[in-house]
Amino acid sequence: MIISISLCLLISFVRSSPTASSPPLLLLISFDGFRWDYPDIYQLPNFNSLIKRGVRVKHIDNSFATVTFPSHFTMITGLFEETHGIVANIIYDPILNASATVKTMNDTKWWSQNAYSQPIWVSNQLAKDSNQRRSGAIAWPGCSTPINGHLPYRYEEFDYDRKFDTVLKRIFEWFNEPIGTRINFGATYHLEPDATGHKYGPISSEMNKTLKECDDYVGLLLKSIDDNEYLKQNLNVIITADHGMHAVNKSHQLFLEQYIDKSLCSAYGSHSLANIFVNKASDIDRLYANLSKIENYEVYKKSQIPDEYHYKSNVRIGDILIVGKIGYQIVVPGDRSSNLLGNHGYDNRAESMHPIFYGFGPAFRSNLLAEPFRNVDIYPLMSYILRLDQRNTNGSLDNVKHILVDFSQEKISPFLVIFLLISVIVMAIVYAICACRHSRKFIYAESNIEPQQYFLLNNDGGSTNNLVVSESEDEQENT
Ligand SMILES: *[C@@H]1O[C@H](CO)[C@@H](O)[C@H](O)[C@H]1NC(C)=O
Ligand SMILES: *[C@@H]1O[C@H](CO)[C@@H](O)[C@H](O)[C@H]1NC(C)=O
Ligand SMILES: *[C@@H]1O[C@H](CO)[C@@H](O)[C@H](O)[C@H]1NC(C)=O
Ligand SMILES: *[C@@H]1O[C@H](CO)[C@@H](O)[C@H](O)[C@H]1NC(C)=O
Ligand SMILES: *[C@@H]1O[C@H](CO)[C@@H](O)[C@H](O)[C@H]1NC(C)=O
Ligand SMILES: *[C@@H]1O[C@H](CO)[C@@H](O)[C@H](O)[C@H]1NC(C)=O
Ligand SMILES: [Zn+2]
Repeated sequence: MIISISLCLLISFVRSSPTASSPPLLLLISFDGFRWDYPDIYQLPNFNSLIKRGVRVKHIDNSFATVTFPSHFTMITGLFEETHGIVANIIYDPILNASATVKTMNDTKWWSQNAYSQPIWVSNQLAKDSNQRRSGAIAWPGCSTPINGHLPYRYEEFDYDRKFDTVLKRIFEWFNEPIGTRINFGATYHLEPDATGHKYGPISSEMNKTLKECDDYVGLLLKSIDDNEYLKQNLNVIITADHGMHAVNKSHQLFLEQYIDKSLCSAYGSHSLANIFVNKASDIDRLYANLSKIENYEVYKKSQIPDEYHYKSNVRIGDILIVGKIGYQIVVPGDRSSNLLGNHGYDNRAESMHPIFYGFGPAFRSNLLAEPFRNVDIYPLMSYILRLDQRNTNGSLDNVKHILVDFSQEKISPFLVIFLLISVIVMAIVYAICACRHSRKFIYAESNIEPQQYFLLNNDGGSTNNLVVSESEDEQENT
């Protein structure tokens, strides 16, 4: 009992060191559209080196819809899309009576629909245990817009013309600033290999080239860390992505306006799914009847959207949802025919929609190829690494414990080893004393019956002093 209590105290002591005034360091990097199996298909030495250094998770089970802005917001809030409200890259909100694309979503109203949504960069800054917690984000969707009133301490908007090496350089500058201004959490976003995946498809020589570039960025990242003792010792890094990529082409393409009377509704979406808002509720059934006949497309009235999608309870989800089966595209009225050779946004259970995940640094186990977890679990993971109180989200720390050193049998803290050693020694001494007393008593008691036995204990065969001394002691204790 006492031992287990002191064990708990010790573990919590170990967990809270180093001192509360120096918060843990974490860098989150997203490579848009980096499919989980690219490192197995293409030669990516720097990515592959990460498995020795840390953890590669087989893939991430991402949430529906498997598109960029929604998935990125899910990663940093731990909330399903229906909860945080960024449900697509092109949104309509019937309460606001307004729509937005990724270019015009830079207004707080889109990101603050749910008062509960809190990006990890905000959670980090609101933690009360340290005045040295600051967050920095570059190009991460939503990072330059106040969300429920909060911005990261440092942020820079997405800039199409900026190369990712300059982004990495900048985020490391922020980590290396003087103690009074430096960040302890950073998030950066790179638009590749998504752009190449859309234009040339996931399996292409162009993708080979783009992934080589991404791999070089990882090389640069590792060098920047290893050249800096402070970062080498302390920085935790997560490299992940929002979704995968699937080969598509013009031959499987649905023009919505050929099936529905477009004066009755409006449709918002990319080329893999569309949310259809019907002007008069009485027209929903007729529109649904037309759409549900189309082969190779999933069509749902809002109430019938599968629960596994966690994509239903939000005003920004249409009265009718249409999703292409893998590889099948949609063109909403007013949009152009799709020229894409790769796309995503499909059923989140499809393999090709899954992204990568790597983690390394002091918090992570090493040399581990780990079982998958969900993208909603990334927030609780980061929250744990940053030593924040766990908020109630749709993710769970239990799902990610297998990649963390703290929950690993392999690596036990040196404090714990010393403590256990001391406990064992103390217990051994106590046991030895008891056993010794017990045996003395035994011998003494027996000596009355078999006196010759006690002579065996004495080399000289004469003195009994040692037994006489212990006798009185034992009697006192037994009363
Ligand atoms: C990628 O390109 C390299 C040469 O730059 C080549 O050796 C390799 O086979 C290519 N990989 C794939 C999957 O095309
Ligand atoms: C919604 O906004 C459009 C213009 O964007 C306007 O024509 C329409 O009347 C508005 N609807 C409502 C219900 O306010
Ligand atoms: C959003 O971005 C556009 C340019 O893309 C800019 O003109 C506008 O002022 C921005 N809005 C806000 C609220 O920052
Ligand atoms: C288009 O994609 C389908 C599968 O999605 C494939 O069967 C067909 O060969 C492709 N066509 C072209 C021209 O690549
Ligand atoms: C259903 O499809 C038919 C044939 O394309 C079309 O005439 C009709 O307007 C459609 N109904 C609705 C409600 O969109
Ligand atoms: C997701 O989390 C939010 C906030 O805690 C909660 O309101 C919602 O019910 C959760 N969704 C599910 C499907 O559990
Ligand atoms: Zn994309």
